[in-house]
Amino acid sequence: MAEESTQEGADGSVSTAQETLSVTDNRTGETYEMPISDGTVKAMDFRQIKVSEDDFGLMTYDPAFTNTASCRSDITYIDGAAGVLEHRGYAIEQLCESSNYLEVAYLLVHGELPKQHEYDFWEYVITHHTYVHENIKTTMEGFRYDAHPMSMLLSTVGALSTFYPGARDLDDETERYMAVARLIAKMPTLAAFAYRHNLGLPYVYPDNDLSYAGNFLSMLYKMTEVKYEPDPRLEKALDVLWILHADHEQNCSTAAVRAVGSSQVDPYSAVAAGIAALYGPLHGGANEAALAMLDRIGSVDNIGDFLQGVKDGKEKLMGFGHRVYKNYDPRARIIKKHVDEVLEVTGGLDNPKLEIATELEKRALDDEYFTDRKLYPNVDFYSGLIYEALKIPTPMFTVMFAIPRTAGWLSQWLEMLGDEETKIARPRQIYTGGRELEYTPIGER
Ligand code: CMC
Repeated sequence: MAEESTQEGADGSVSTAQETLSVTDNRTGETYEMPISDGTVKAMDFRQIKVSEDDFGLMTYDPAFTNTASCRSDITYIDGAAGVLEHRGYAIEQLCESSNYLEVAYLLVHGELPKQHEYDFWEYVITHHTYVHENIKTTMEGFRYDAHPMSMLLSTVGALSTFYPGARDLDDETERYMAVARLIAKMPTLAAFAYRHNLGLPYVYPDNDLSYAGNFLSMLYKMTEVKYEPDPRLEKALDVLWILHADHEQNCSTAAVRAVGSSQVDPYSAVAAGIAALYGPLHGGANEAALAMLDRIGSVDNIGDFLQGVKDGKEKLMGFGHRVYKNYDPRARIIKKHVDEVLEVTGGLDNPKLEIATELEKRALDDEYFTDRKLYPNVDFYSGLIYEALKIPTPMFTVMFAIPRTAGWLSQWLEMLGDEETKIARPRQIYTGGRELEYTPIGER
């Protein structure tokens, strides 16, 4: 049996010699032993590697955090190679089959599935915080008629912090809970107001008798009827979409919420940062881009030329590829199953984009360019088709993503606050600019 000696890391953690990494600095010939735990080494352990006493020490360079774990988390598990996604240990397939979005939000935030009375209370609290202050409504009315709904959401979520100054007290458990409940409750209201604003229609106030998804449909579509009655099949489809988007561990927007939240700003501002990150076309904006791409392709006959353009590097196949999934994104598989169901209700089965998407997927999965790079459909490849069938305009797609991701952002925010290893996020840099230049007056340059 191998001899085991113990090794202490920079933070005082202890591991055995078999769980260490030996690093030899060829500049000095020195060898260093670093503990390995949970399949990682600590970047700070490299700081001890120096060529001289006044050397700052070795840093690691990872510009897009492609190989850096920034936290410990027990919220969402992803196995990118196998295409597995679990929330708090429950497979996404089971949650989509048996749960609803509000229950999944509870699971993410609290860590466990609720008992009946806990669920009832949670539902009551969320339902009774769906209204926004009338001044928030006035703020929204001030936007131009064609303002992008994601920009409206971003600003109004930031503005909510002015209505709840108590949320700045991060040590107050009740304030934290209320901010979580308020954000989950109000996000659909703000989203629907933005939608109605673009259409020039009066905003519809929340209806507390309806489900979370049903109320959202009512706020979108209610016209002169006294009571809006949502189609249960559409409520279910929305619930499934929202469960699928509820959390996805350390993606760009969640990393933004955690980084901004680590400064101990209030949760409304931290979530506004998440919304800003989600807005980008490489993150939440990809389904809008995927639908535009299907429109541009126009016909199944043009798929060959389009794919050639992608392979020549002229453009990307939007809705394909993922930083973590190097297999079929499990969310895409579930969404694909619901596309036909929704189109059946809304009468869009003859939508030519469905045929183009199906054929495009088939041809790409048959092509070495995509298989060699492990590029598979992601969640955004098909979700746009469902939103389009629900008559949701493309600028609203990212907003539809932000509604459910709020539960994920907030559970990650709560976890970050309770983590004793949390410090303000502050990466290092490799400086590449000039040094000690002489300032020249503007007229002499
Ligand atoms: N179409 C064509 N080529 C692609 C694509 C694509 N969609 N995605 C990646 N590649 C190529 C890329 O050019 C590179 O090729 P090479 O090795 O020859 O340089 C290789 O595949 C590896 O790609 P990468 O850019 O290193 O991968 P990444 O992990 O940095 O990027 C991604 C991940 C999602 C940003 C990227 O795949 C992409 O831009 N996809 C299209 C946008 C999209 O659908 N985004 C939604 C992501 S899912 C929603 C979410 O969870 O936020």
